[in-house]
Amino acid sequence: VSSIFLIGFMGAGKTSVGQILARRMGLRLADCDALIQKLTGMTIGEIFAREREPGFRRIEAKVLREVAGGSGQVVAVGGGAPAHGDNMRLLRSSGTVVWLRASPQELWQRLRSVSDRPMLRPPTGGRASSASDRRARMEKLLAARIPYYSEAHVTVDVSGLTPAQAASRAREQIRKVRVELGERSYDILIDSGLLETFSSTIAKLRPITSAAVITHPKLDRLYGGAVREGLRELSIPAITLAVPPGERSKSFRQIQKLQACLVRAGLDRGSVIIALGGGVIGDLAGFAAATYMRGIRFVQVPTTLLAQVDASVGGKVAVNLPEAKNMVGSFHQPSLVLADLDTLRTLPRRHVRAGLAEVVKHGIVADEDLFRFVEQRAPELLGLDPLALQYVVGCSCRIKAQVVAADEREGGLRAILNFGHTVGHALESASGYRHLLHGEAISAGMVAASRLASRLGLFDSDQAERVEALLSRLGLPARASADCGELLTFMARDKKARAGRLRMILPRRIGCVTIVDDVPESELTRVLSKLS
Ligand SMILES: NC(=O)c1ccc[n+]([C@@H]2O[C@H](COP(=O)([O-])OP(=O)(O)OC[C@H]3O[C@@H](n4cnc5c(N)ncnc54)[C@H](O)[C@@H]3O)[C@@H](O)[C@H]2O)c1
Repeated sequence: VSSIFLIGFMGAGKTSVGQILARRMGLRLADCDALIQKLTGMTIGEIFAREREPGFRRIEAKVLREVAGGSGQVVAVGGGAPAHGDNMRLLRSSGTVVWLRASPQELWQRLRSVSDRPMLRPPTGGRASSASDRRARMEKLLAARIPYYSEAHVTVDVSGLTPAQAASRAREQIRKVRVELGERSYDILIDSGLLETFSSTIAKLRPITSAAVITHPKLDRLYGGAVREGLRELSIPAITLAVPPGERSKSFRQIQKLQACLVRAGLDRGSVIIALGGGVIGDLAGFAAATYMRGIRFVQVPTTLLAQVDASVGGKVAVNLPEAKNMVGSFHQPSLVLADLDTLRTLPRRHVRAGLAEVVKHGIVADEDLFRFVEQRAPELLGLDPLALQYVVGCSCRIKAQVVAADEREGGLRAILNFGHTVGHALESASGYRHLLHGEAISAGMVAASRLASRLGLFDSDQAERVEALLSRLGLPARASADCGELLTFMARDKKARAGRLRMILPRRIGCVTIVDDVPESELTRVLSKLS
């Protein structure tokens, strides 16, 4: 289990909000200041008087390191800690960091009468300070810390809220990621038990005239009942359309069959399609929604880790042609994404690993702290620990949401999310989509891209080894048997090949990738020949 870290300025209510949040979530509260006092046998004021600020920060960093290694806890972090040393990086790679943000006015109201805050006192030897001096000192300190607080995963505005209200808001926001696309904006909810509260969540999309649940027979048996029950509670008439599992269902033939059923069931422009399944269902049902009556709303209920961290977000929907995968599709954003972490309990292990490949991808592309979290918490993730899963799904969705908001139709930036995909897609094509899962192909593709980047002098070879080591710990392949010439042919056909030149996304360091337009074929061949 990982942790939730509450950060923010003194007076923001980290301890009082933390107590309530921990109780409601069934977690422990760890209060860093209390732990420091216990360790030293001194009050914070006494430590400041004796050790000065640098001495206090050293003790604080030590306590934070110990706490960060723990689990199943809400941690109230000292107000200044995020602004010192590597603390913020430590917190971000150990759990979800939540900034309790209060306005300067509100903070001053809460702090004006307290006298035990060493950071608000005048420097030693200074004259006793007036209220306006103290306020100026508070505002200066706050301004200096805001850039660090802003690196939190989640920001909760607590101005004007009681601790209980702030805890409710924090809990709500920890499980929510918003994709900002103007009037097509939508929420991604990430939590356990979401299917149990399906009706209250879906109610926000009303009016809904009718619904069609598109799924696989097995998933219908496992989760269809909860979805239908939720719709029944809202008196929304619904049909269920179950298609066979597998990539072959992402076809025009299947789309035509589905559309005929939608017409026969009388779905209209006020209807909603519910995609209950992994990436295959999301892509297929999404494309059905994008094209039925020139586009109706749809809700993603992703049930594979790969779909929760990637495929269900961003609105790419498609079917395959015999000639090429995902060749015919559209950009059609869902109205809502419900990632119920409980559904992963029935997902075969191999698919859990494959989903983690996309998490590692997000780490390499944009967030070294996420990568480090996976390095540290691989056993918990493979064991489906809910807080660890919420962290990786949340981080992945936040990255994807930001990229999609900046470049919805892949005019430029969005291409970075294709890291590992150029070689990965070629491997999938070469295997006829039979032997490798998508995530497994991406794993081998990321290894190839990392090795290539290191051969080209873009990426340190020890970092390339770090990538391989993590994928191997997750049980993901670094190799795949395929003929090098065949792979190159598929890559040349790849949509990402521009004007005859091969475009690839290559890492510069973990957390940062670059688009390279003129990959030297000789180097690529060397790397590909070592893949099998
Ligand atoms: N649109 C996008 O942005 C995007 C991104 C990545 C991948 N994709 C697409 O996603 C597809 C791969 O998706 P996937 O890896 O989720 O595979 P998938 O949808 O084929 O699901 C894998 C298998 O697991 C079963 N399953 C799903 N959820 C389950 C659960 N909770 N319990 C038990 N069994 C369950 C399914 O029935 C299926 O047999 C590919 O077609 C790929 O092109 C799309």
